[in-house]
Amino acid sequence: MDPALVARLAAEELPKARNADDAVKRVKRRLHQAVGAFTSGTRMAADAWPVEDPEALPAACLAVMRRHASTRERLEHLESFYPGIWRHTGVPRSILDLGCGLGPLALPWMGVGDARYVATDVDEGAIAVVRSFLEAIGQPHRVETRDLVDGAPEEEADVGLLLKLVTTLDRQHREAASHLLQGLRTRHAVVSFAARSLGGRGGGRVRTYRERLERLATDSGRVRAIEEASVPNELVFVLALEPHDG
Ligand SMILES: C[S@@+](CC[C@H](N)C(=O)[O-])C[C@H]1O[C@@H](n2cnc3c(N)ncnc32)[C@H](O)[C@@H]1O
Repeated sequence: MDPALVARLAAEELPKARNADDAVKRVKRRLHQAVGAFTSGTRMAADAWPVEDPEALPAACLAVMRRHASTRERLEHLESFYPGIWRHTGVPRSILDLGCGLGPLALPWMGVGDARYVATDVDEGAIAVVRSFLEAIGQPHRVETRDLVDGAPEEEADVGLLLKLVTTLDRQHREAASHLLQGLRTRHAVVSFAARSLGGRGGGRVRTYRERLERLATDSGRVRAIEEASVPNELVFVLALEPHDG
């Protein structure tokens, strides 16, 4: 785990805690909220990926992605997920994947060739797996353990992916998501929300997420247009951004 995240949460919870034990409990709860979904213990050395075998590689990616709760939810729609986004952005030559989890392991389904891939997360376990994978397949890349509440990476890219990230950041800092969007040096940002059932009883949640998206767009002050690329269990918005002003 990025020590900066632990330090930030400890600083926020300490003043509210009754005693040291309570403080530890509070920080653990917050950490679990932020990164708890990843099944730790997944370790992959770069030479463990079956890169020479075109059939075994996607199978290995699927097996590892199943270990990340939120990435797993996307697997049944993987074939259409990224092409549906690129329809609005064009196929990117460079991608910033923010709060990536194990998302970069979907590269065999992305169809982006040798695009540069920058992946960041606060979870060092996920980052280690992603690093070994990107190295193994020879993708031009940079990976970084980073607390996104402190802001966006300075790197420029065609597309910034904020997949299922906004609700996670909202629990950590009220303005983190809009600051992140303001600081992004990308032409498009893709913001998604998990919605296990988008029809029926999921309707209320969908409305809440749409409102959250609209507010985020307004607060960031740089969204030119919003298009949708949702799949049955994930609400996906593609935001066209005004150029970064710095
Ligand atoms: C719901 S998961 C989404 C993972 C991935 N984007 C996907 O859609 O499969 C949220 C991710 O955000 C990361 N995260 C949580 N708080 C963060 C922070 N402050 N800075 C960077 N990443 C964070 C978690 O470690 C986790 O990987």
